[in-house]
Amino acid sequence: MMKSKTMKLQIAFTLLLTFSSISAFASEPNEESFLGCLLKESHDNTISSIIYTPQNSNFSSVLDFYIQNSRYLNPETPKPKIILTPTTESHIQTAIYCGKKHNLQMRVRSGGHDFAGSSYISEVPFFILDMFNFRSISIDVESRTAWVEAGATLGELYYSIYEKSSSLSFPAGYCPTVGIGGHISGGGYGGLTREYGLAADNVIDARVMDVNGAILDRASMGEDLFWAIRGAIGSNFAVILSYKITLVEVPENVTSFFVSRTLEQNAIQLVHKWQYVAPKLPKGLTISLMLSSGISTRTGEKTVIATFIAVYRGGVDELLSIMESNFPELGLTKEDCKEMLWIQYFPFHLGQSIDNIKEFLTSRVSPNKPYFTGKVDFVKDPISEKGLEKILSNLLEVDPFLGIMEWTIFGGGVMDTIPESETPFPHRGNLMIMFEVAFWTPNDSSSVIQTRIDWLRKLHKDIGDYVPNNPRGAYIDYRDLDLGVNNVVGETSIEQARKWGAAYFKDNFDRLVKVKTQVDPDNYFKNEQSFPTLFPYSTKIGDTECFSSS
Ligand SMILES: Cc1cc2nc3c(=O)[nH]c(=O)nc-3n(C[C@H](O)[C@H](O)[C@H](O)COP(=O)(O)OP(=O)(O)OC[C@H]3O[C@@H](n4cnc5c(N)ncnc54)[C@H](O)[C@@H]3O)c2cc1C
Ligand SMILES: *[C@@H]1O[C@H](CO)[C@@H](O)[C@H](O)[C@H]1NC(C)=O
Ligand SMILES: *[C@@H]1O[C@H](CO)[C@@H](O)[C@H](O)[C@H]1NC(C)=O
Ligand SMILES: *[C@@H]1O[C@H](CO)[C@@H](O)[C@H](O)[C@H]1NC(C)=O
Repeated sequence: MMKSKTMKLQIAFTLLLTFSSISAFASEPNEESFLGCLLKESHDNTISSIIYTPQNSNFSSVLDFYIQNSRYLNPETPKPKIILTPTTESHIQTAIYCGKKHNLQMRVRSGGHDFAGSSYISEVPFFILDMFNFRSISIDVESRTAWVEAGATLGELYYSIYEKSSSLSFPAGYCPTVGIGGHISGGGYGGLTREYGLAADNVIDARVMDVNGAILDRASMGEDLFWAIRGAIGSNFAVILSYKITLVEVPENVTSFFVSRTLEQNAIQLVHKWQYVAPKLPKGLTISLMLSSGISTRTGEKTVIATFIAVYRGGVDELLSIMESNFPELGLTKEDCKEMLWIQYFPFHLGQSIDNIKEFLTSRVSPNKPYFTGKVDFVKDPISEKGLEKILSNLLEVDPFLGIMEWTIFGGGVMDTIPESETPFPHRGNLMIMFEVAFWTPNDSSSVIQTRIDWLRKLHKDIGDYVPNNPRGAYIDYRDLDLGVNNVVGETSIEQARKWGAAYFKDNFDRLVKVKTQVDPDNYFKNEQSFPTLFPYSTKIGDTECFSSS
């Protein structure tokens, strides 16, 4: 028994070696042969209408449309050789087949919000598979489920659900232009996370296309791949076509408030108290916190503004009484509270007008795309007032409103009870997630931009004294290349990849490497932080018992 198993393995291994030697020595990437292949292999004569080369006058506008961080909208950003905007699954099949055959790297883009531009930037020749045409959404109110295609946005999903039922929603992020493909496959948190978990926790099925062009659902892909695409970013393993999600019940009407306090108004003490109060509030009341650099209207001096943004499933009087008994220090008044439809809370949370919900939720890009960089932390225990002072003092060192943090409560709900290995996202059992952002403006010089980036790193360093550090947690939906990257050319060792891998995934990293090895053994789906395979070609020879010289 043992022997035949070993032999089988050895044969499989030899085959693998032969196969990957072919791909390792494949011709240089060549977009001409890639193009030729697309036209030849496609059994669908519409393919020419979805191909954009730099010669096409619309190439730049197609490329730029879903670049959502203006930081990457400049001539220095590496450009793709070709953009494909598939309208059928067979287009995607042909793209993967020809990309592999002609060794042209593929980057998959849905909403284009990747912090590092990983869906549309690469240091090696590449093409973009732009999924924006795949955006249908079908809602089944009866079973409280929906199928949503990867290229739909969160806002489109929320609005489609609302059109069918004003008392159903989906637990995910607030930013309406974020794409389903990246958001859900990387985890996805928001105001309902404490109650219902991550977006990825509410996925019950999926359709993907694998590296061989096969279309798989949950049953045919198996539980390993289905696990990996709920938190470790789809494009490391496959192209996500759609997810089937469960919808959650929300009240039609809610009460909300948006209350700001500066340092002079005891912001530090209030933030300190909030950490103890927020995780213990009844499930229907969520208070998030936005911290920003600002100017005191009283003194005209720089200050820190702490804004408590809340949504409650119930009326004003109940809300006031809960606040009075749990958080009287905030001094909430009836005038601070506003009754609104649940759906209106999405723009309200972001400080936007609640009057034109449809436009707010269904516009696919923001009219003013920001310039920014961000980082993240997971906080386990409440931070002392002294610690808060140290962290928040950073906000006095940046121009008003160009440095912000968004603190979202995880603790006191289902996030505490879901095991770390349930999905690739391991950061369960935390008090909160801290999102740290530095902005700049269109005319800022490169030295000013560098100052902002350095400011963010300093803030992050200071927060490091108050969060678990072995390893320091990170979140792949807020991709951070400072954590480490793969080699641009050639393979990357598992130990090198573990630098970022352990931060994002803790002990789930090793299982992700195994899944990667199973589903994409030749490692075609590559990016700055994609998983290495267990037996990369370069380390095979001499590295295993079969070939060891000793
Ligand atoms: C302003 C802003 C606010 C945000 N707010 C939140 C928030 O509240 N909560 C939260 O959790 N996150 C938030 N995010 C982060 C967001 O969830 C991630 O950036 C997410 O990955 C974006 O998905 P996308 O499809 O828009 O991005 P893309 O740039 O298109 O893709 C991101 C990654 O996913 C891969 N990918 C995209 N589509 C597919 C596909 N169809 N198949 C396989 N792989 C694919 C890409 O290759 C890339 O690696 C925010 C981001 C921004 C910029
Ligand atoms: C570019 O886009 C415009 C507007 O969508 C369209 O009318 C035109 O035909 C496109 N041109 C090419 C070369 O695809
Ligand atoms: C929600 O509020 C609207 C407008 O005030 C009202 O017409 C509606 O009946 C309310 N819905 C519920 C379920 O109370
Ligand atoms: C940036 O510079 C341009 C041209 O110099 C100017 O028109 C514009 O007003 C400036 N924008 C800001 C925000 O300062």
